[in-house]
Amino acid sequence: MALQSLHDGPVTMNTATPMTRAIKVSSWNEWDPLRHVIVGKADHGQIPAPEPALNAKVPEESDMRGRWGRRSKDSIARANELLDEFSALLRRRGIRVDRPDPIDHNLAIATPDFTVANQFTCMAPRDVLLTIGNEIIEATMSYRCRWFEYLSYRPLLEHYFEADRGFRHVAAPKPRLTDRSYRPDYFADRIDEPTRLEWTARKHFVTTEQEILFDAADVTRFGRDLVVQHGFTTNAKGIDWLRRHFPSHRVHAVNFPGDPYPIHIDCTFVPIRPGLILNNPLRRLPDEQRAFFARNDWLILEAAPPAHNEPPPLCYSSVWLSMNVLVLDPKTVCVEASEVRQAEQLDRLGLEVVPVELRDAYPFGGGLHCCTADVWREGTCEDYFPRG
Ligand code: ARG
Repeated sequence: MALQSLHDGPVTMNTATPMTRAIKVSSWNEWDPLRHVIVGKADHGQIPAPEPALNAKVPEESDMRGRWGRRSKDSIARANELLDEFSALLRRRGIRVDRPDPIDHNLAIATPDFTVANQFTCMAPRDVLLTIGNEIIEATMSYRCRWFEYLSYRPLLEHYFEADRGFRHVAAPKPRLTDRSYRPDYFADRIDEPTRLEWTARKHFVTTEQEILFDAADVTRFGRDLVVQHGFTTNAKGIDWLRRHFPSHRVHAVNFPGDPYPIHIDCTFVPIRPGLILNNPLRRLPDEQRAFFARNDWLILEAAPPAHNEPPPLCYSSVWLSMNVLVLDPKTVCVEASEVRQAEQLDRLGLEVVPVELRDAYPFGGGLHCCTADVWREGTCEDYFPRG
């Protein structure tokens, strides 16, 4: 039976996405035609209070050091305006868009193991929800301030569970996130960049191997193959959990020396269509890890430089959100409107580039890929790497 979404926003009644369309959860890669997606919201957006993993993440020179609490009303309204416009643009293209029900991220939280004074956001569903085939996994997450973030998406996931009999709703093991999950070296107030680069190059990351940890945005889906960044937000045990959970997939652990803050793969290694990947030129995939792509005729191109020298104020992410594109189908890609160099590069590669204004929302959690999570892309699970 066709069911209507309880969570579509006010623009649901357009002809392209009739409310009666049945729900199907299915997505195997980052490029097949997108039919249904979740777009985040900036409501109650916070700068999180200090916690062990946070110093490691906030750049030394960042204007966010030593600050935490609610973001301004105006900045939230502006970010929401952009996220609403992005949602409307996707709907006009016939893509169904659902939105989360934000919990109050300003609330302090406590578990038996930790307390934190506030939380974070539900702007970036990509970080929390990992869609692989007919399954959506709530990632463990690795920051205390993000422990309850899945709650903002639960109403949607509950609805999909009722509406699609094939949908598998999975929560990965919730971590304890005691101090033992973090390396004390990273608690230091200042760590200079050469030290950071040396540490990350030898995989001395902030998270330990105490327990299973992963963020969904460390996983890039290539059909049968899952490429997972080992870094600050995903540890080797997290990758092992994914490997055991998906025994018919090949799970590849990758890392990118050159990134002093290795968090989420989608500003670093971004597939555009079968056979083509953009790699951040400052965070080059090591040669030994390239061989697998090369022998299967995948081209790894250096991404164009960002258009900006600095991220917007109070932003966690780097200028490389330029690469954080959302592929709508193998010929069409959404690029942030001010990222002209990235847009030009993709245009030259033969894609239709759809400019989307989002920069003022970056501080809330990221770019166009971060602020979305796939529910349905057409297509099936294919092997794009027959030469293993
Ligand atoms: N580590 C990335 C950078 O700043 C940010 C990644 C954001 N991605 C995300 N899914 N939230 O370069």
